Amino acid sequence: MKTDTDCTMTEQHWDPDRYSRNARFVADLGVGVVDLLKPQPGERILDLGCGDGALTRKLVDLGCEVVGVDASTEQIAAAKRCGLDARVKDCQALGFDHEFDAVFSNAALHWMKDADAVLDGVKRALRPGGRFVAEMGAVGCVLKIRTALEQALARRGIDGAARNPWYFPPAEEYARRLENHGFTIDYILLFDRPTDLPGAVTSWLETFAEPYTSALPANERATFCQEVEKALQPQLCQPDGHWVADYVRLRFAAKLKPDG
Ligand code: BEZ
Repeated sequence: MKTDTDCTMTEQHWDPDRYSRNARFVADLGVGVVDLLKPQPGERILDLGCGDGALTRKLVDLGCEVVGVDASTEQIAAAKRCGLDARVKDCQALGFDHEFDAVFSNAALHWMKDADAVLDGVKRALRPGGRFVAEMGAVGCVLKIRTALEQALARRGIDGAARNPWYFPPAEEYARRLENHGFTIDYILLFDRPTDLPGAVTSWLETFAEPYTSALPANERATFCQEVEKALQPQLCQPDGHWVADYVRLRFAAKLKPDG
């Protein structure tokens, strides 16, 4: 079986137009995380993995002073076009220095495999007593989709598991990491969140599953996605024809101990 080292590219690219067509639900479903943050006017907030800035904008509209950071040049350009303070940054090497009242993140932390490096940066970015409020994918998230992708790659002799780009932790593991970084946990919840997709699962695959599809030559990817869709149809397509993805989320609110 071919392994990851045989493949040329496992990176995910973000096309802001495709993202707003296929993934607007990500920000729409993140509104509950904003509520958990309880942002106060005048607070300085870091939006970690801000993407095109849809929730950054919401925080700004609530009167906060917000800096959005994301590794995607394209998404940051889209956020800047909306007038946001958005910066291209590797969220695993943040480099801010005790300057934020809160760090906020929706649907981004699971793309960052070095969770401790992220937490080092979050801790350093916060003022003493600052909050870290976030939601991410958790253990079991998109398991049916991952399995179908891995099986379809295995039929082509490719090790799909080695291309998994996501970190989906159990609640206990992430809680331990938070505590080890000096946080007190006010709230943490792992929950199934079956997620209605705006189209068929192929659109989701095009938007989010590039680390898997890029194992194949470009001219084979459409057939591959159709094959994955066919495998998932009995599991994720509802009788009325709409698709529901098997998301599992971890939502938490933590506070940095004053002496953390
Ligand atoms: C998300 O945006 O929440 C997500 C993306 C890829 C896999 C699972 C979840």
